[in-house]
Amino acid sequence: MMASKPRYRLLLRLWPYLRPYWPWLVAGGAMALAVSSAEGFIAWLVKPAMDDIFLKRDLFMLKVLPLILLGAYLVKGFARYGQSYLMAAVGERVIARIRRELYSHIQGMSLSFYAQVHSAELMTRVVNDVNRLARLSSTVLVMAVRQMGTVLALLTVMFMREWVLALIAVTIFPAVGVLFRTIGRKLYKIGKRSQEKMSELNVVLQEAFTGNKIVKAFGRERLQQERFDGVNDRLMRLALKDHRVDELAEPLMEILGAIGIMGAIWYGGYRVISGALTPGEFFSFTTAVILLYGPVRQLGRMMNTIQQSISSVERVFDILDTPPTISDKAGAVTLQDFRDRIGFEAVSFRYPESEDDVLSDITLTVRKGEMVAFVGMSGAGKTTLMDLVPRFHDVKSGRITLDGRDVRDVSVASLRALMGIVTQETFLFADTIAYNIGYGRPGATQAQIEHAARLAQAHDFIAALPEGYGTPVGERGVKLSGGQRQRIAIARAFLKDPPVLILDEATSDLDAESEFLVQQALGELMKNRTVLVIAHRLATVKHADRVVVVHDGRLAEVGTHDQLMTREDGIYRRLAQLQSLDALSTN
Ligand SMILES: Nc1ncnc2c1ncn2[C@@H]1O[C@H](COP(=O)(O)OP(=O)(O)O)[C@@H](O)[C@H]1O
Ligand SMILES: [Mg+2]
Repeated sequence: MMASKPRYRLLLRLWPYLRPYWPWLVAGGAMALAVSSAEGFIAWLVKPAMDDIFLKRDLFMLKVLPLILLGAYLVKGFARYGQSYLMAAVGERVIARIRRELYSHIQGMSLSFYAQVHSAELMTRVVNDVNRLARLSSTVLVMAVRQMGTVLALLTVMFMREWVLALIAVTIFPAVGVLFRTIGRKLYKIGKRSQEKMSELNVVLQEAFTGNKIVKAFGRERLQQERFDGVNDRLMRLALKDHRVDELAEPLMEILGAIGIMGAIWYGGYRVISGALTPGEFFSFTTAVILLYGPVRQLGRMMNTIQQSISSVERVFDILDTPPTISDKAGAVTLQDFRDRIGFEAVSFRYPESEDDVLSDITLTVRKGEMVAFVGMSGAGKTTLMDLVPRFHDVKSGRITLDGRDVRDVSVASLRALMGIVTQETFLFADTIAYNIGYGRPGATQAQIEHAARLAQAHDFIAALPEGYGTPVGERGVKLSGGQRQRIAIARAFLKDPPVLILDEATSDLDAESEFLVQQALGELMKNRTVLVIAHRLATVKHADRVVVVHDGRLAEVGTHDQLMTREDGIYRRLAQLQSLDALSTN
């Protein structure tokens, strides 16, 4: 009992979503009550039918009663149709809204959230869990009022016909209550575990499919198959368990019902034989009892569905309740342009799950138009530092400023609008080349797209493709080579034409020719912009106005290439002496 209370309270969280539809709910509720009343009325009609037509042989009643009965069924049929559709329509709208909110909430989460939760897990919540919610809404909204109303109406008829008999029949109710509580608890647990397993299955699938090249290269198909089978098998066993418990409810209830009816017939039959009850009254009563079975069974189903789905409600609100860490604060200023400088002021940062600071006490000013190269060993914190500028994460202490304004005081959209980012892992959408280049500038013309592609040294290879700019690139751009992908990503940044450019320059996995082209494209892109570049190549570093050496999360050295080379035991000198910076730092 203790455990079940807060669980039901979760359902109340759905109320704000339902509230705007209150007129629909009221109308649907009214129609549900019409269905219930018609049902009760039909049971009630059995007595006059029996007593007046069959016993008294009343010809008038013979003509009228069947018409009345038809009328009752007509009312019931139309009201039921209207109610079902109305409630289902409310349910679907609510579900669509929750799905939308979930998506936009997840979209607003910071990069660290995505680092913590697997994308397949998120997809499971948006798709599978919300589907379970849909099932919940369609059963509860459609069933609850109608079936409860029907139960009440039929009980009324039973008590009107013969209250002692009715009392005997309802003695089974407490037993039914206990039955559903026990079954419900089991179903809740099973539901929770199967949704967790469903997420796991999606994770296994997504990794096996996107990583299929590695799976093949390492010959681990067996292992993947075993992982899949493991989860799949557990899912099946949970589903079987769910069926065993779920299906138990009905036969058990039927048996309990039979016990009630048995008692009623014993007592009622005795009363009819002794003449205290007319056969009509008795059959009217029995009809009500038999009609009662349907709605009680449906209510039982509904309880089971609630229990099966409640963990999905939990999982959905779990995400909606996680506050987005990066969002505009009240009164955030919209940045119009970048005029003067980017400042890092005693910046420290750590990831949510890391123990030590990944960056500490970083102070640096980058003037407009400057090109600053960040070098350092892999894991030094270069990428993390770059991620702080467009607020993919927020600093732990200190601040980052743009023209003297804390980046947390400006609107995220206007901040990011000023920045172009080209990372080492290019991401392309499964669409055409033109779509991918035009991504950052809605409404870009074909001419603008082509111009950007030329600047990025990408036009020639694109034009040589059979479908040119209309060529689909495949998932994440798999149909293109690494160098081609990178040049498309550079063209995308060209088209956005941002004043500030952040480059995580990666050319390590490119062949010499691609690297040359990418370098040319990058060189072109860097012109007349403020550039923060994580440099892996000496050539880039030499071009930079200043070089910043990041070591162990701190700024170890700052200066021009020549200045830093004069430091006898400087880190930079040591890095440069290894000739190729590529070898040292590939990420
Ligand atoms: N999402 C993350 N969560 C926790 N730790 C991270 C995360 N991303 C990077 N790190 C850690 O932060 C440190 C700096 O990483 P990074 O900035 O990528 O280094 P670099 O780009 O200089 O190679 C590394 O020790 C890395 O393990
Ligand atoms: Mg990096």
